[in-house]
Amino acid sequence: MIKRFYIETYGCQMNEYDSELLAGILMDKGYESAPSPEEADIILLNTCSVREHAEQKIHSRLGELKYLKDKDPARKLGVVGCMAQNLKEGLLESKPYVDLILGPDSYRNILEHLDSTDAHTIDTKLSKFEVYDGLFPARKEGINAWISIMRGCNKFCSYCIVPYTRGRERSRSIESIVNEAKRSVNLGFVEITLLGQNVNSYDHEGKRFPELLIALTNVQGIRRIRYTSPHPQDVDEELMKVHADYKPLIANHIHLPLQSGSDAVLKAMNRTYTQSHYLKLVDMIRKYLPDMGITTDIIVGFPGETEADFRETLHVMNSVRYDSAFTFKYSPRPYTKAWDMEDKVSESEKSLRLTELIRLQKKHTLENYRNLIGKEVEILVEAPSKRDPNEMKGRTACNKITVFPAGAYQAKDLVKRTITDAQGITLFSRP
Ligand code: 5AD
Ligand code: SF4
Repeated sequence: MIKRFYIETYGCQMNEYDSELLAGILMDKGYESAPSPEEADIILLNTCSVREHAEQKIHSRLGELKYLKDKDPARKLGVVGCMAQNLKEGLLESKPYVDLILGPDSYRNILEHLDSTDAHTIDTKLSKFEVYDGLFPARKEGINAWISIMRGCNKFCSYCIVPYTRGRERSRSIESIVNEAKRSVNLGFVEITLLGQNVNSYDHEGKRFPELLIALTNVQGIRRIRYTSPHPQDVDEELMKVHADYKPLIANHIHLPLQSGSDAVLKAMNRTYTQSHYLKLVDMIRKYLPDMGITTDIIVGFPGETEADFRETLHVMNSVRYDSAFTFKYSPRPYTKAWDMEDKVSESEKSLRLTELIRLQKKHTLENYRNLIGKEVEILVEAPSKRDPNEMKGRTACNKITVFPAGAYQAKDLVKRTITDAQGITLFSRP
């Protein structure tokens, strides 16, 4: 009998990629994808541990799915990814009905674990080498193919659990990445997004990120190349020259996590740059690419963050004027250096800071979007808009969503249109 699997993905794009990788491994062996957990013989949750809230969500989801195990004990329920790596067998204390616990470097072993007759299987060995070469993900249909180019992280920001859940940095060869890009194009994908915990720390036998980008610009059929997320420490002039030389094929968007604008907090976070370094970096980026869309991640309420420190973050936001920002309240994570730092910021103070930050960002987002009115942009058409089937939606190179009358446009077309209006985070345009 054919077995059916269902994978639910939480967390970052790297997890999206890994879920496609797992689906690829299973489908290669004849498993089929099920449309719902109820119809699946194997249910996998691909999980995130980056904040406590992310883990709480999985705990309650597991609680919800328990009835499916009760109904059919032969069905396998697996937790994979960062939370599996973080909690290991500890997960069984509260969720003894979980069959399979697989860390991010153990996916190759999933088939043998599924065949195992043991009550529980826990495989959370991290690897210095695993980059899943030779496997091809079963991608969801669409425009964009995620391609993982490196895994793990050596930066050890003091708040971050990722180095503990995903292990040390390792990169794939340019050849293997280019091959995956070519295969994706042959399957109809027109955009690729290169992924890594620190995508621009890419280093395969001395070949660095700019070289990889140039190699990918030679792949016929790719209309747009994106990547996420770079670390400010590894963004340099060479990278910006490549952006400028291969515009618009390499999209003019950079996600540049700030985390904090205060030198004292940045130091305690082990971020390796100061406010002034960061602002100079932004100037350098804009010197090469004046219309670069810049987005960021910011944490409020890191231990010891004073009101004055927080003002420094607002100062950087006012100087850079980001297109958008992912904003988070600091969440203490086990194993990390910040876990036992004193001088915790209260929840209510964190909430106040977060609200202020979000308000400022909304203002900048709208201003930046309005600044595009009257400008001609290149849009990669994605799909009919959910709101109105007579409209299509697409993205500008700087990653902003635009909607427009469907007309004769098809998904995957690259079209030039002029922005006419901006509302919220949506742009409107005319030919
Ligand atoms: N608490 C809050 N936010 C965090 N991030 C990472 N670790 C934590 C934490 N402990 C945020 C950072 C990172 C993004 C992916 O998640 O901003 O860039
Ligand atoms: Fe979450 Fe980080 Fe793991 Fe991605 S790498 S799933 S963001 S903990």
